[in-house]
Order: sequence, then structure tokens, then C-alpha cells
Amino acid sequence: MATKIAIFASGSGSNFQAIQEAIERGELDAKVEVVVTDRPNAFVVTRAENFGIPVHTFTAKTYESKEAYETEIVTLLRDKNVEWIVLAGYMRLIGDTLLSSYTNRIVNIHPSLLPSFPGKDAIGQALAHGVKVTGVTVHLVDEGMDTGPILAQAAVEVVDGNREETETRIHALEHELYTKTLKQLFEK
Ligand code: GRF
Repeated sequence: MATKIAIFASGSGSNFQAIQEAIERGELDAKVEVVVTDRPNAFVVTRAENFGIPVHTFTAKTYESKEAYETEIVTLLRDKNVEWIVLAGYMRLIGDTLLSSYTNRIVNIHPSLLPSFPGKDAIGQALAHGVKVTGVTVHLVDEGMDTGPILAQAAVEVVDGNREETETRIHALEHELYTKTLKQLFEK
């Protein structure tokens, strides 16, 4: 049976697209039940619509607390029997409500070799530090910022001073590593 997943994203959604394409090619036995976003204008919304996948948009500031909006999301996910939450460029820290409902069932991808360069603009942080090798990490989500148990990593050589090319390599590797790691997780 296909594993039912929800993708959480705030931006372009290229990782979402890579996952959905892997599903459609029959490489990943999963079904994206819903895309959850906090940014109604994010390109991920267009990508989801093109695939005919429902999008749930929420605006955090219209809720009285993080608990209130996460409770609404948990209700939606339970309603759709979602088994795993897959974060793909979701720019908010996951709170207690989601963590306690989906303990060890939330996975994230981060564009660095954690524990180096957690948080925002990991690629910029790596370039500013002058590292020669950076990479991609897939990990389970806990209450910290990019701190949960590591599931998979892959390295990328930094192209000297060339952010664009380094980014291109990282994103290409992300798409491959995320799909591969999710496949292993769901087959367990
Ligand atoms: C990726 O670099 C991912 O590692 C990070 O956010 C970015 C999302 O990119 N968490 P996209 O929206 O999937 O294109």
C-alpha cells in the first residue's frame, strides 16, 4: 500500500516536484495527500495544482497561537490518514502539537552537512565560511532547528566562489537523495 504523505513547503517546491515525479515513475510507493504551505504565493502551490494535488494554505498570523494552527493541520492530516510529514523547504520550526502527533514521522532535508550550518541560508553560510565540501542531509525532525537524527548525507564540492553552480549541484543532489531516503524509510 502506498504510504500516505503530506509535503510542507514555503518556497519553490522543486523537492516536492522531484518526489511527485518519482512517485509517478513508480520509483516511490507513496501518495502525496496534501501540500501544506504558509505562503499562498509560493511557486509550490502552482506545482501542486499542475499535478492535481490539494493544497492547504494557512496564514500563521491569523491564528492566536502556533498550537492553534498546528492543531488545525493535525486534524486535516488525520482526516486524510497521513502517515508521514515530509518537509521540503518549510520555513517554520515544527511545534509541540505536530511533534507529539507525528513523533519520528517527520522528515526534513537541509542543504548542508549537518551539524554544520543549520538554520537559514545554509549554502550562504558554507560559502562565507570557505568550506571546500558541503552537501545535503536528510534527517528526522525533533524540537530543535535541524538537529534530529541523521538518516542520510551526501557531499558536494564547492565550486570556488560560484554560488549559483554550487546551488545547482546541491539541489540536484537533494532531489536524488530525498527520494532514495524516503523509499528506504517507507519500505521499513
Ligand atoms: C532546499 O534547499 C531544502 O534543502 C531546504 O529548502 C530548500 C527548498 O527548495 N530545506 P525547494 O523549494 O524544494 O526547491
